[in-house]
Amino acid sequence: MSSASPSNPAAPRASIVVPTLNEADSISELIERILASMPEDISFETLVVDDASEDGTAALARKWSDRHPVRVIERQGPRDLSGSVLDGAREARGEWVVVMDADGSHPPERIGALLRPLLENRCDLTVGSRHAPGGATEGWPIHRHLASGLATALAWPFTEVRDPMAGFFATRRERLLALPGHAAGYKILLELLVQGGDSLRTEEVPIRFEDRQKGRSKLGLKQQLTYLKRLTYLAGGRVSGSSAGKFILVGLSGMLVDLLIFQALIGQQARLGTAHMASFVVATLTNFALNYRWTFRGDAQAELSLPLRYLRFFIVAVMALMIRGGVLVLLVDVLGLSPMAAIVPAIVVTAGVNYLGSAFYVFAS
Ligand code: GDD
Repeated sequence: MSSASPSNPAAPRASIVVPTLNEADSISELIERILASMPEDISFETLVVDDASEDGTAALARKWSDRHPVRVIERQGPRDLSGSVLDGAREARGEWVVVMDADGSHPPERIGALLRPLLENRCDLTVGSRHAPGGATEGWPIHRHLASGLATALAWPFTEVRDPMAGFFATRRERLLALPGHAAGYKILLELLVQGGDSLRTEEVPIRFEDRQKGRSKLGLKQQLTYLKRLTYLAGGRVSGSSAGKFILVGLSGMLVDLLIFQALIGQQARLGTAHMASFVVATLTNFALNYRWTFRGDAQAELSLPLRYLRFFIVAVMALMIRGGVLVLLVDVLGLSPMAAIVPAIVVTAGVNYLGSAFYVFAS
């Protein structure tokens, strides 16, 4: 990471952090609009945090540095929007940081309105909001409205802010720096809102969001999946590809244990019910131990004792077993499937219930 030195040595009050990825068509116009519209009584700098754009964005932004308080941070390594914002905050010299897009969708003319409530100590964080009264989103195709609406709805349990997906917000620099290092993903505002909890004073400042006229959005499936994964984490769940894979392997080993114990007990003339229950309990014990030590090793809630945690695991396993019975009855008796055809989806549903129960309830972080 390298940064050009600011032309104004006095520390500004606010730093406007603009993450960029291939925004050569837009960056100059944005800087021009910022310079033209910032209130005179708020000293500021603009920090362009570029993620190794191939279209010369960084060079274009750097041209402004000679005569204006514009700095360019050039990141190397994996591209990361939230990481760029955090790097910008680290480099910022202002006490207050405004984060905004480079593509002109966020009106720089509203930066003053975002900063004013903070400077007057009326709140801790302001959001350039499309959904506050007076706000609007213009130029988006219907699928973007739908995707954004869904993403916003999913964030609803975490915050009362109407536009938690916004990429235009302002807060104290220290607040951004206090975010945990793993606050990955596309939605750093949501991380701030969750981190701040109920004591965070927020204000939504209406903005007219205008879809970019130039360049293209970088929001893809990868970012959307990262967002979903992050939401499950924020909800206390520990869902991931790695834990799901390990959980399946542990489940298979449990089936083997179940089978061996069942066979051994039946061989000892044990009653069917006893053999069935004993092998099930032993299998849940070995599954629990392996999931605890391996699948979900790490930052599970420390305050939960081991017996209590196992009790939770057992309850989930029994519930999953009952659901499996229900699915089998539904598929065989109601839908007329053969038992052999029905057992496959029934096992999948059981495994899913067991996994989610473990990720969100037994081993939640
Ligand atoms: N440094 C860096 N690294 N910048 C990035 C990266 C990255 O990996 N990905 C995107 N950016 C920059 C873009 O260059 C732009 O300035 C800004 O981040 C937003 O990226 P877009 O790709 O234009 O975002 P969008 O149009 O999909 O999303 C818009 O709508 C969201 C609301 O649903 C943005 O306004 C978001 O900020 C907003 O949250």
